[in-house]
Amino acid sequence: MKHLLVNGSLSFLCLQIFCSLSILAEPLKAISGSPKITLKSEKITLPQDSKVFTGIGSNHLNQYCLICHSCEYLNDQPALTRNMWEKEVLKMKSSYGAPIPDADVKILVEELYQKFGAPIAPKK
Ligand code: HEC
Repeated sequence: MKHLLVNGSLSFLCLQIFCSLSILAEPLKAISGSPKITLKSEKITLPQDSKVFTGIGSNHLNQYCLICHSCEYLNDQPALTRNMWEKEVLKMKSSYGAPIPDADVKILVEELYQKFGAPIAPKK
């Protein structure tokens, strides 16, 4: 009886070793046997976004805001009052590092208000 048990646990051990080896063999096969990766260049065409603002009151918007934003981005913003646009311009300067000289802030606010202005604050 004792003999059988020893034999039983020995074959169990062999089975365990065999299983571990075959588990290890799979990833090794994947590393050594996988085909070489070949990279090839692809040409893609991105959507055109070279638009600029046109008309009176566009100079400063083009000069300062389009450094980081597209026209669409600004077109999609809600209409704001002069005060709100000023806060927005100052935020672009202080928080995001927009290189807007202090002397141009007023002109920018006016251009923004003329293009995207609201006489009163928009309802939330
Ligand atoms: C140096 C880069 C930079 C410049 C220049 C810049 N912005 Fe921004 N602006 C940002 C970043 C960054 C955000 C935040 C975007 C986000 O949260 O997805 C942002 C967000 C905004 C928003 C969304 C509301 C908000 O406060 O987050 C508005 C409106 C906006 N900018 C207007 C302007 C206007 C108008 C100008 C020109 C006067 C301008 N920005 C110039 C970087 C810039």
